[in-house]
Amino acid sequence: MTDRLAQLSNHLAQPSDPTRLDGQVVLITGAAQGIGRATAELLASKGAKIAINDLDKERANAAVEALQKAGHEAFCYCGDVMDVKFPPRLIKAVLERFGRINVLVNSAGFLNDAAIHKMTEEKFDVVMKIHNYTPYRMIHALSGHWMDPANRAMTKTIINISSTSGLHGAMGQINYATAKAGIIGLTKTVAAEWGRYGVRCNTVAYGWIDTRMTKPPDPDEKVVIGGQQIMSGIPLNAKKWRDTSDIAVGRPGTVEDAAGVMLFLASPLSAYVTGTCVECTGGRYM
Ligand SMILES: NC(=O)c1ccc[n+]([C@@H]2O[C@H](COP(=O)([O-])OP(=O)(O)OC[C@H]3O[C@@H](n4cnc5c(N)ncnc54)[C@H](O)[C@@H]3O)[C@@H](O)[C@H]2O)c1
Repeated sequence: MTDRLAQLSNHLAQPSDPTRLDGQVVLITGAAQGIGRATAELLASKGAKIAINDLDKERANAAVEALQKAGHEAFCYCGDVMDVKFPPRLIKAVLERFGRINVLVNSAGFLNDAAIHKMTEEKFDVVMKIHNYTPYRMIHALSGHWMDPANRAMTKTIINISSTSGLHGAMGQINYATAKAGIIGLTKTVAAEWGRYGVRCNTVAYGWIDTRMTKPPDPDEKVVIGGQQIMSGIPLNAKKWRDTSDIAVGRPGTVEDAAGVMLFLASPLSAYVTGTCVECTGGRYM
């Protein structure tokens, strides 16, 4: 057997693992808990270096400590990602620490529900800001780094988060449903404009994933944005939403279920997938 053939047969016998992310730098907003944190843990276990952002410093630090204890490289840069001046600062901090960014996951978010007749400008506005303006500003802040011809060959992937509310509408969520539909158009536009720079951009529309956001409201669990106190949680009496009979697999999703899709979209397994919205819903609203 020639050297070349020997090399080839060796390569075929031991294919590299397409789920590995060794040396890749992943930045996740809202990663102190929930879907963002589970994604940080899974992607770190595949070799990625992790930069965490969140408003909640205590939980963000705990998430970073757990990653470091497990032998992974991680740090957090806390702050309100909705602040218009914050995204460029966050990108700069990650570049100073790790030298590059390969994957951006825009996960920071919250609900601020009200029936249409009770919705206020303030509640509508803050939800549009976190789920549309903020991902746009994060992506805009990456332009310089990702347009740089020196980074042409580097892996560059964005994952945004939509929801069944954005795909199908949802009672009490006129603000959230509007924003989560909007993020799909944003995603497709980034995929169309930046494909030529080697950037892939996708959205995941989750159904019911069991996190603080979907547990029954707890007075201690809230985000405070510009003086607005925004409670987390979905009331227990949201009967239609809490009924699992229309979920094909018959249960809410776990954060691990949610993170699995993130790994697929961050890894070379999805090298030819861009501009799409993957539904991770357990088969709800088929
Ligand atoms: N859980 C679900 O069923 C579900 C379904 C569809 C979509 N989503 C989306 O998934 C994403 C993550 O939600 P989750 O369920 O993990 O919620 P979560 O409440 O567990 O985590 C969200 C995190 O975002 C952080 N955050 C909020 N505003 C921030 C800001 N301005 N700056 C920095 N950090 C901020 C919070 O502090 C929190 O740690 C959100 O975009 C949400 O809309 C969730």
